[in-house]
Amino acid sequence: MSRIPPAVQEPSHWLMGPAWHAQRDPISYITRWAGEYGDIFSIGSPLGSATVVADPVLARQVLADHYSSYVEKGRSYAVLRILMGNGLVTSSGEFWRGQRRMTQPAFHRRRLDAIFAMMVRRSRETAMVMAREGGAPDIAPAFSRLTLAIISEAMFSTDVKQDASTVGAHVATLNEAALRMLRQPWRFLLPRSFPTPFTRHDYHARTELDRIVNNIIQQRRLNPAGHDDLLSMFLSACDEETGRGMTDSQLRDEVMTMFIAGHETTANAMCWVLHLVATHPDVKARMLEEIAHAGDALDQGSLTAFPLVKMVIEESLRLYPTIWSVGRLCTRDDDLGGWKIRKGTTLIIPIFLFQWSAKWWDNPRKFDPDRFQPDRRPSPEIYFPFGAGPRTCIGNQFAMQELMIMTITFLQALDIQPVPDFPVEMDPLITLRPKHGMRLALSPR
Ligand code: HEM
Repeated sequence: MSRIPPAVQEPSHWLMGPAWHAQRDPISYITRWAGEYGDIFSIGSPLGSATVVADPVLARQVLADHYSSYVEKGRSYAVLRILMGNGLVTSSGEFWRGQRRMTQPAFHRRRLDAIFAMMVRRSRETAMVMAREGGAPDIAPAFSRLTLAIISEAMFSTDVKQDASTVGAHVATLNEAALRMLRQPWRFLLPRSFPTPFTRHDYHARTELDRIVNNIIQQRRLNPAGHDDLLSMFLSACDEETGRGMTDSQLRDEVMTMFIAGHETTANAMCWVLHLVATHPDVKARMLEEIAHAGDALDQGSLTAFPLVKMVIEESLRLYPTIWSVGRLCTRDDDLGGWKIRKGTTLIIPIFLFQWSAKWWDNPRKFDPDRFQPDRRPSPEIYFPFGAGPRTCIGNQFAMQELMIMTITFLQALDIQPVPDFPVEMDPLITLRPKHGMRLALSPR
């Protein structure tokens, strides 16, 4: 007989229950409750409850082996839906399956090779500017701009140069609006007429972005030849099972999805990578040696010459998982390792917990890239920063290629040092951001 997951008792807010605490400081409370309640527990509030799957083996069952009982993403994706519409991240069921089939070819190795030089060029440009300016800037906005420029050029190649900076500004505005909403989730419960933090400025950004993206789509439909980018792949995609391509609104949602999912994640990851490199001079020295040894050429295929850079990024994604938690909705009663999960249950899968636990890692808070040496690599059962199962990150290889190129080009151009007394703190919103930005002392190499 399967058991019902235990409900967290305390601490509990007088009105909102334990969920109040989980909302305000999810990392501390989920860690604490996992210690008290074990593999699985539920967090209640008068508005409903959520069940935390605190064991990576059970979590992988939800994401992969028992996928068909958890095909929906759950309530927490509502903010994302405002931005991305019904794209790959937010859609579900057969609709999602068709979209995934049609978008997948755009992320094949061959496609990544085609944008390799562009990623190098964009990264070098930004690194040169930062080397010239020096000082101790907050690097977070610069990486946001760089990763947005990269995903925009990958998506639209060169024909939107005049729109690219406007697109960037609007995407950034909407991203900030979504973050404001996440900080005040109770606002979702208010009537639509109630003034929300989605300001006129945000609505303007949304309408303008729609207009620009729709315009590009229309022009491409009229002149489809001669382009070699994500948009042309999406436009020519045809689902072999249904024989249909994407409508304009599907295309718009996928374009927005790639903009949002494809830049914030890698920008934040770079802040954490460079923070760790700056604060670990021994590892930095080894990386510089590896980079010097590989020479200046950086082209497709040459990334294999940088195994340490790759391990540093993997270890950084372990200590600072940019997507720190994912959600699911149970769509069919299930038995999860002897626990009864009822249809309609919201599940939280705290990726950070699996990657920081002394149960699975030696000295888990220590930055030690050598854990990822080929003969010691952690099992995918406990380390899955890009998710697992059918909904695993479609941009996984794109992101690793981009992160490696950015790390190598920055270390080639810049000496990076920590800023004494600068507070480095995590802010777990949609992605795991550095709460006060990330100031680093930069000087040309
Ligand atoms: C460090 C970088 C990144 C990390 C850690 C990351 C992580 C993840 C994770 C954990 C998921 C699964 C979410 C879930 O199961 O609910 C996901 C999905 C997704 N990611 Fe990423 N991601 C990264 C970069 C990217 C990039 C660069 C792109 C696009 C160019 C991208 C596009 C997507 C999309 C479209 C999905 C939804 C896939 C689907 O449901 O079919 N991601 N990502």
